[in-house]
Amino acid sequence: MRVAGAISALAQEAGITAAINPNDVNAEIPPNPQMGDIGIPMFAFAKLLRRSPGQIAAAAAAILAKENSGETFEAEGPYLNIRLNRGETAAAVLAEALKPGIQDGDGDFPFGRPASLNDKKVMVEFSSPNTNKPLHLGHLRNDVLGESVSRILAACGAKVRKTCIINDRGIHICKSMLSYKEHGQGQTPQSEGVKSDHFVGRWYVRFSKDLKEEVAQRVAGGIPEPAAEAEAPLMIRAQELLRKWEAGDGETTELWQKMTDWAVTGMKETYTRTGVSFDHYDFESQTWLLGKDEVLKGLEKGLFFRQPDGAVAVDLSAEKLDKKILLRSDGTSIYITQDFGTAVKRHENWPFDQLVYVVGSEQQYHFKVLFTLLDKLGYAWAKNLYHLSYGMVNLPEGKMKSREGTVVDADDLIDSLRDMALEEIREKEREEEVGNPGEVAEKIALGALHYYLLQVSPAKDMLFDPKESLSFTGNTGPYLQYMGARISSMLRKDAAGENLQGQAQIASASAYTPGAVSDPEWELVKMLAAYPAAVAEAAAKLDPSHLTAYLYDLSRAFSRFYHDCPILNAETKELSRARLQLSRAVMRVLKDALNLVCIPFLEVM
Ligand code: ARG
Repeated sequence: MRVAGAISALAQEAGITAAINPNDVNAEIPPNPQMGDIGIPMFAFAKLLRRSPGQIAAAAAAILAKENSGETFEAEGPYLNIRLNRGETAAAVLAEALKPGIQDGDGDFPFGRPASLNDKKVMVEFSSPNTNKPLHLGHLRNDVLGESVSRILAACGAKVRKTCIINDRGIHICKSMLSYKEHGQGQTPQSEGVKSDHFVGRWYVRFSKDLKEEVAQRVAGGIPEPAAEAEAPLMIRAQELLRKWEAGDGETTELWQKMTDWAVTGMKETYTRTGVSFDHYDFESQTWLLGKDEVLKGLEKGLFFRQPDGAVAVDLSAEKLDKKILLRSDGTSIYITQDFGTAVKRHENWPFDQLVYVVGSEQQYHFKVLFTLLDKLGYAWAKNLYHLSYGMVNLPEGKMKSREGTVVDADDLIDSLRDMALEEIREKEREEEVGNPGEVAEKIALGALHYYLLQVSPAKDMLFDPKESLSFTGNTGPYLQYMGARISSMLRKDAAGENLQGQAQIASASAYTPGAVSDPEWELVKMLAAYPAAVAEAAAKLDPSHLTAYLYDLSRAFSRFYHDCPILNAETKELSRARLQLSRAVMRVLKDALNLVCIPFLEVM
């Protein structure tokens, strides 16, 4: 703001009465830290002052230099470059990051809480599995994206409601049910010693296998492929089961309830394991009828039409979205039907300012149609619906096979990451040091997984490389966890020895004196100061990769500082104390940011 003042003074000198717009003073980070900490381009003022940007920069620098603020001002071409007062700035930043009375790592960390979304109500729907088989690698990306985005939005002041729809009805569930009904012979997850969602998944695999055989036989008998499948006896029996379910048949409902419970119970175990939680669950079995009503309302209003075969459809060619069936000819719902009802009910129960659907990019068309139709049905809030679309995630060829052989199972993947981490701990003979190797290995596995999945922007397809994700060096979760453990260990050492921090009044801020802040320390202070903006950016773009990138930069800056600046053995006690404070501030920000991207913090590893 003093810059705006200086430019106003220049204007006055020249007898110009028009006012300077302070919003035209935009701070940038110079491309090279040697040039200064902040650079402000002067282009915006050239017209008003009728001078070249370079002349304005030079004149403003001269005015500001007279203030003796401890900062330096230099003109470099059209830029006014500012070097901040390092000691003062460090003190101010550390005072914020070390605010007293707040325990490290608890939810009340006020630094990095930008308030950019204060009191906005955002509902985030994510995970939303089908109940015919367990969670897979794609869900892991979905889950961590949804959980992380929710935490980031809340950090910016939003009221967040995490919600999950369990798609527990439809033909896919009937397939698992049919196989179990025909071959299950009273087996249960308990009797087989299998995680309950995996148990359900086995029957789905069985169905697929049996169907494949049936289809092959029929194709060999001369029936063309699509018909061979659609009219296979197994498919017909599965359809029958769906109709029975929709008609509320007692025996079918009972079986469905049992298998749904198994599936959901198993999935919730995986959520707990990965640190994912929901404020609310919807069940398609309870919302699909509401959806039917919405479709029929649209039919009445003339927005939709009935086809000669009885199906309800809508023509969206004007929107370039083709024709879309909304209700089948036999009156049964399809996937999109239930989404109408669920959306309407959600807004009734919790009137949101925004609803974010975290769902794979293969459903882009689905959500375009859904949002367009809700708008046509007259729901004003339809414009506040947003599809946070994410790309596919694959494993490098031949790396790991799921138990069921096709997709990569979530539990299996985490198990093998954990086993690899445990192996590493054993190889390094750190079992005693870490205390509980199994628990630490599990946290490293989650850190590796979550970081790897989040450092790619959601929209991009990606390859998950288990080995690379676990590396302790490089751009990985374990590298960040290691940095946290390293700082923790140093702070423990200090507490056991001279306890310089204990003596320091943390509240009275930094022990840094002007001139004592070397380049690596200064870089670190600037990184700390950038934390709130990094959180705000991740929230604004619904993209946690802004935070993972921040975390990596912060860790690298710390690593440089740790390498270049003796901490416990600094030249003076005062300097030791200052550097310990800086380290503690880094640790708090690290811990807080790790939590926002669902990476467990480790005291030792
Ligand atoms: N269960 C669906 C699937 O696995 C995803 C549901 C996404 N959410 C929604 N409201 N349609 O494909």
